[in-house]
Amino acid sequence: MTQAKQTCILDGFKRGGCGSCAQHCQHRVMLEGVNGSGGRIAAANLPANYRNLTLANSPARKDQADNYAALERYAESFATGTDKSAYLWSESPGTGKTTTAAALANEWIVRQYIAALKKGEQPAQILAYFLEVNSWQELYTGFTRRGIPEATAEKNSRLYYKQMEYARTAPFTVFDDLGVRDVTDGFRQDLHSVVNYRVTNGLPSVYTSNLPIEELVKVFDARLYDRIRHNCGVMLFKGASKRGRR
Ligand SMILES: Nc1ncnc2c1ncn2[C@@H]1O[C@H](COP(=O)(O)OP(=O)(O)OP(=O)(O)O)[C@@H](O)[C@H]1O
Ligand SMILES: [Mg+2]
Repeated sequence: MTQAKQTCILDGFKRGGCGSCAQHCQHRVMLEGVNGSGGRIAAANLPANYRNLTLANSPARKDQADNYAALERYAESFATGTDKSAYLWSESPGTGKTTTAAALANEWIVRQYIAALKKGEQPAQILAYFLEVNSWQELYTGFTRRGIPEATAEKNSRLYYKQMEYARTAPFTVFDDLGVRDVTDGFRQDLHSVVNYRVTNGLPSVYTSNLPIEELVKVFDARLYDRIRHNCGVMLFKGASKRGRR
């Protein structure tokens, strides 16, 4: 219990931290829900292992100190909103890209939540959205490939379009693992339209990838690539894989 209190993502925003708060602090419930379900964090679709991360508590913070200093400044702009995006990449896996992207989504959620309360507004239920590009692509295959039972195809298709709509319109979207491989034209078009909508409407996104940003020209067309690039901070995550390190 005590440990759970310490991991409250609001900890850095309250003078003296959240250690002395009631277990059922209303703000915590609004953000984290009850037992991990409900709340704005769950609505953002963050994978379970990445849910309570912030820039302050991220395990990647120390090894990626320069990147984190820049990201702290980026996060400062979240309370008032920003149209700036970030591209976190490394060729090597396990360098903390997804960890950091999840932390940024949480920073966005908390800051937007607090900003809405300060204005006397009800914070939106979907403040940010985390799209696992690979799983989303699997859903696509799960209703376009031949021979899939109708009920399964229908379920996959419903989920696919739901995720697509959230990723397209959320105030802040993480595209996790954008280094898409073996994409069909249909899937590529959908991904293109989601990113294009966001860029056109000045909605910020965080992308993670194992490819240098220049490779995106192969995924999107030259025009969209140019527009993504224009308003995007590119950040290289150095070092070898830290997966499994404690
Ligand atoms: N610098 C670090 N120090 C300690 N642990 C770390 C560090 N960076 C990442 N980790 C841990 O390693 C695991 C993998 O991190 P993460 O998923 O963020 O990597 P990634 O860069 O997204 O990898 P991939 O390219 O495979 O998607 C996580 O459990 C994370 O907590
Ligand atoms: Mg990753």
